[in-house]
Amino acid sequence: MGAFIEVTETGGPEVLKLAQRDVPTPGAGEALVRQTAIGLNYIDVYFRTGLYPAPSMPFTPGMEGAGVVEAVGEGVTVVKPGDRVAYASAPVGAYAEERLIAADRLMIVPEGISDDEAAAMMLQGMTAQYLLRQTFKVKAGNTVLFHAAAGGVGLIAGQWGKSLGATMIGTAGSPEKMELAKANGYDHVINYRDEDFVERVMEITGGAKCDVVYDSVGKDTFPGSLDCLKTRGMWASFGQSSGKLPDVDLGILAAKGSLFATRPTLFNYIATRSQLEETAGDLFEVVQSGAMKIAINQTFPLADAKGAHEALEGRRTVGSTLLKP
Ligand SMILES: NC(=O)c1ccc[n+]([C@@H]2O[C@H](COP(=O)([O-])OP(=O)(O)OC[C@H]3O[C@@H](n4cnc5c(N)ncnc54)[C@H](OP(=O)(O)O)[C@@H]3O)[C@@H](O)[C@H]2O)c1
Repeated sequence: MGAFIEVTETGGPEVLKLAQRDVPTPGAGEALVRQTAIGLNYIDVYFRTGLYPAPSMPFTPGMEGAGVVEAVGEGVTVVKPGDRVAYASAPVGAYAEERLIAADRLMIVPEGISDDEAAAMMLQGMTAQYLLRQTFKVKAGNTVLFHAAAGGVGLIAGQWGKSLGATMIGTAGSPEKMELAKANGYDHVINYRDEDFVERVMEITGGAKCDVVYDSVGKDTFPGSLDCLKTRGMWASFGQSSGKLPDVDLGILAAKGSLFATRPTLFNYIATRSQLEETAGDLFEVVQSGAMKIAINQTFPLADAKGAHEALEGRRTVGSTLLKP
């Protein structure tokens, strides 16, 4: 038997209930992974509340984990029993001691990266990778605004953007979070709960504004994020931790300077095995080089997934958070 979290109806953190089930057997193309660490991500909240529809009901949340391959099904060649692996992938199902997953979604964790680090960085780190290296290719001399800079994706993006030579401006919701963001690559950090971030960006850049704004806050930072962009700048709206955006009239992009807008999602950037290997490979390389540290600041037992969600939604977490089976 193995423990897992089951959601039988969408709602608040209290719908995350611990349950037991038989350990499943992998079918063709699948691997059974005994998980040692599970990554907590904001997307888990969207599935729990029903903002994103779960593929089935009841369901087990979670899209990221690390551990050891216990068994593989027919035709699996990318991994074998005993391999240390990690993943960030749909479908949901990570909040479990053991889970089945399509084997071609697994990456072997390289030497020098612990299971905990791998579980903490696959989803947030590959997100930072595609945002900074693919959606808009950040280069030396660029000015970048990254909202929620002290969050899981935010702390990784700050270090990565800095290492690429960009001027990194971050926003964060408390003085402690501002300090942490500064220690993780951000040249300037704005407390967007106390200050008008658009005005501060104008001051910091001397009116020149930013080449790209990465916005995962959504409702509360719209349309201010657009006012932080240079003519023909890029608005990458990749999340909605404060709530869904209103319907956006594309005319606003012309009015604010022929802006580019995109609403990217990680799973479209790692859809094929080669895209996954390239994106994860780049992330592993940067972490192994020592240029970037993965900050695991909160750890909860799997049985207390409720407490972990309360902390994440209550803006009480910084950096990455793990659930431990
Ligand atoms: N599209 C993609 O491919 C993709 C992939 C990964 C993550 N994401 C998105 O990126 C964002 C960050 O994900 P994460 O897992 O790293 O989470 P996180 O940044 O660690 O946590 C969310 C942060 O958002 C900020 N926030 C601002 N307003 C908020 C509100 N009203 N309620 C709650 N939080 C609020 C808080 O930081 P402050 O207190 O500092 O404001 C909070 O800590 C999420 O929106 C997520 O959906 C998107």
